[in-house]
Amino acid sequence: MLARVRSGALMGIDAVVVECEVDMALGLPYFNVVGLPEGAARESKVRVVSALKNTGFDLPQKRITVNLAPADIRKEGAAFELPIALGVLAAARLMEEEPLGHYLFGGELSLDGSIKPIKGVLPLAVAARAGGFRGVMVPAANAAEAALVEGLQVLPVAHLREAVGHLTGSAPLTPLMREATPGVGPRKAAADMADVRGQPELKLALELAAAGGHNILMAGPPGSGKTMLARRLPGILPEMTFNEALEVTKVYSIQGLLGDEQALMRERPFRAPHHTLSDAGLVGGGPAARPGELSLAHHGVLFLDELPEFRKNVLEVLRQPLEEGAIHLARASQHITYPCRVMLVAAMNPCPCGYFNVPGHKCTCAEHRVFDYHARVSGPLLDRIDITVQTRAVEYHQLAAKTQELPSQYYRQRVEAARERQRARFHDAPDVHCNAQMPSHLLRRYCVMSPRAEKMLELAVSRHGLSARAHDRILKLALTRADLEGHGRIEDVDMQLAVDCRMLDRRGWLHANTQGATDASRPASPSWKTDPGDKH
Ligand SMILES: Nc1ncnc2c1ncn2[C@@H]1O[C@H](COP(=O)(O)OP(=O)(O)OP(=O)(O)O)[C@@H](O)[C@H]1O
Ligand SMILES: [Mg+2]
Repeated sequence: MLARVRSGALMGIDAVVVECEVDMALGLPYFNVVGLPEGAARESKVRVVSALKNTGFDLPQKRITVNLAPADIRKEGAAFELPIALGVLAAARLMEEEPLGHYLFGGELSLDGSIKPIKGVLPLAVAARAGGFRGVMVPAANAAEAALVEGLQVLPVAHLREAVGHLTGSAPLTPLMREATPGVGPRKAAADMADVRGQPELKLALELAAAGGHNILMAGPPGSGKTMLARRLPGILPEMTFNEALEVTKVYSIQGLLGDEQALMRERPFRAPHHTLSDAGLVGGGPAARPGELSLAHHGVLFLDELPEFRKNVLEVLRQPLEEGAIHLARASQHITYPCRVMLVAAMNPCPCGYFNVPGHKCTCAEHRVFDYHARVSGPLLDRIDITVQTRAVEYHQLAAKTQELPSQYYRQRVEAARERQRARFHDAPDVHCNAQMPSHLLRRYCVMSPRAEKMLELAVSRHGLSARAHDRILKLALTRADLEGHGRIEDVDMQLAVDCRMLDRRGWLHANTQGATDASRPASPSWKTDPGDKH
């Protein structure tokens, strides 16, 4: 007697359909599960047997073999316990097999038969929809997640008895319906830009970064507001589209990090891992094959505070995913890809004591320590950072001023308007959400420059020996600035700012000073001039 029940196993952030075959044959009583890692199989077996018994079903005294196929997909966790239990009942002819074919099942069993939440219900629901199944039967605690998928019957179950009741028709469950318009809702009140006194250049730099999704590094003395401003970035970022929100929610679903009250992640993620982070913690993987901080920041912000304190290998591991927006991991028998389209926001002091080259302060660090500190942030990593800003201590009169600072809402509106232009620009490129993600082959098409802007770029590249990547990134940043200001093409003011934003580190203290090679030909700070009549 053979019965088949279908479930799903995770591959990256997607689920693939897994078949649980249960074979029941005459012979000495025996229960074996193959196709799961040994430990997981042993535990699942114990829970399935107890849950069935405590729900009132005695296992037939037969040889029961459960096979999870395909064998070459690594399967984790306890999500297969509900489908295995149902498969056993069907194989024992305690219920019909036919209704099982309409659904994908997932759920961990308690010894008493109650069903506990599992990770990855959203990908399971997406796989059910793609596979043409009528619906999914999942733990009640995860059902809201599954209900995000349109056109799918979601059956929430809290106990094995309820699952059997529905499938035998004795106690049909009420399917959970998808929210009318998931994805749009009030934003949580985040910390507001209005709290930040002064620092107009820093605010404009953040606005520019947010407008095009550019990576940014803030460097300056302690207490100058770097961390404070970075935490206000999510409040000025544009809302996620439904598809972006769904992708982010999938990542959090497989980490089991979704809150009860909120099935769809509406806020862009903001991840600020501590500098003791390991490379596996950053990119993901490990025995449980889970996404790391980079993927948890997908479509949002990865904030690396105190950048040079991070391990060197961790910073180097960042390079490829930052470029590609995805992480590829090779596991024993399969390759996994996790998405990570993030904005990198980094902050650092100019030296270990924090006051190197800071007016009014004396740096107490030996010269080689300053050099070592800067060297921890490698050239290739800096090459991927479009905007470098130096922060200065806020002056007393700014702190004491009675004037109101501009609120986050002001910046968000400008950012939204700039992103709207980008959405229109990239409407036929589904993977490109903002200027920073524009692939090189589209640069020529979209980065239209005034003759003066073009000349400026040419000069910057030849004078500073910029890499091809730097050239491309300057162009994209200039385009963002043009989008923010509503210029139809990249003007010389846009290009000047983009070049200055990029060159600050090479020109200023970050690398050049410690090597005694300052470039006097460049201005002291980016030209944050805006159009006449603009508020800034
Ligand atoms: N521009 C500002 N306006 C108002 N308060 C500020 C400003 N800058 C700093 N502060 C106050 O100083 C505190 C410390 O700022 P913050 O932690 O952002 O500094 P930091 O530059 O990150 O310093 P460190 O280099 O030590 O990490 C903030 O919590 C805030 O109370
Ligand atoms: Mg800080």
